[in-house]
Amino acid sequence: MPETWTVQRLLEESGSFLISRILISAGELDLFTKLETKPRTVAELCEAEGWDPRGLRILMDALVANGLLSRSEDGLYGVPEALSGLLTGDGQHSVLPMILHRGQMWGSWSHLTDIVRTGENPHRMDMSFRSNKDTESFIGAMHVIGRMSADRIVQSVDLSGFKRLLDVGGGAGTYTMAFLRKAPHLKATLFDLPEVIEIARAQLTKDGFIDRVELVPGDYGVDELPGGFDLALLSAVIHSNGREENRALFRNVFRSLESGGTVLVRDYFLDETRTYPPDGAMFAVNMLVATAAGTAYTFAETRENLESAGFREVKLIREGTRMDQLVAAVK
Ligand SMILES: C[S@@+](CC[C@H](N)C(=O)[O-])C[C@H]1O[C@@H](n2cnc3c(N)ncnc32)[C@H](O)[C@@H]1O
Repeated sequence: MPETWTVQRLLEESGSFLISRILISAGELDLFTKLETKPRTVAELCEAEGWDPRGLRILMDALVANGLLSRSEDGLYGVPEALSGLLTGDGQHSVLPMILHRGQMWGSWSHLTDIVRTGENPHRMDMSFRSNKDTESFIGAMHVIGRMSADRIVQSVDLSGFKRLLDVGGGAGTYTMAFLRKAPHLKATLFDLPEVIEIARAQLTKDGFIDRVELVPGDYGVDELPGGFDLALLSAVIHSNGREENRALFRNVFRSLESGGTVLVRDYFLDETRTYPPDGAMFAVNMLVATAAGTAYTFAETRENLESAGFREVKLIREGTRMDQLVAAVK
């Protein structure tokens, strides 16, 4: 059921980008890292960074007004205790990579009106369009989101019968690690683009899983996936592709599985109205502005695509309203 809107709420929501923007700009300037250990004045920061004092003071005062920074009576700006470690470059629980990714989304969402008017999208964010820095912040952002939900999602899968997992487009290895945590007998192979494989290597090494994971660089649209697996995962992958690309990807995954093997697909699966879950409908906009042909797919579309690749017994095995739904299918 759609929410009730009031004039007040319309005005509030249409201006909600204000707080979003100051937070993103503070993240892009890495202000929280710079101020976390040593509170500083506007003058000190501007001298060290070469920034504009008027701009920095106005931005930091707005951050103070919203509780995102603190300011002492002698003009020293710092990070409030409650935000300690949450927005710094090196904090273990930092969400800074996601804030930086939101900055990239800001760029692509700004073109929404023109994309709808013209059907053209010259500002795409597909992986081949990203710089190394953008790739790092994108994969970092996926890890921030994934580490909060992966274990919970993987809990709903019975892994007792599986021995070898292939995580296609595995990113930083967030889901690979959740599978390996749940099933100590499991071995995994993570397949992703070469630049992302190096990010996965660093993360898996840091978290102590590298010995149980083989890393395979490649492009699933061009290269044959490695073979001999009884379980394959496509987590947050299919929404970036058009339907034809997904059919080809499912055929590639089909060939990588042994007979009787299972593919799991994690994504939003919209109902037939394409408006539920609401987050899924909003995510489709994100794919509209960021990719050539991506969107959030319905369960029926996904089943049809999987069956066209040869899969059977296609089932929605996990319900959800976030990107926490799971579809399973058998070879
Ligand atoms: C949204 S991220 C999801 C990462 C991870 N599976 C997760 O759920 O956190 C999509 C992943 O697909 C990978 N990817 C995109 N296109 C690819 C391609 N053509 N070949 C291999 N991997 C690709 C990206 O590099 C990225 O790691």
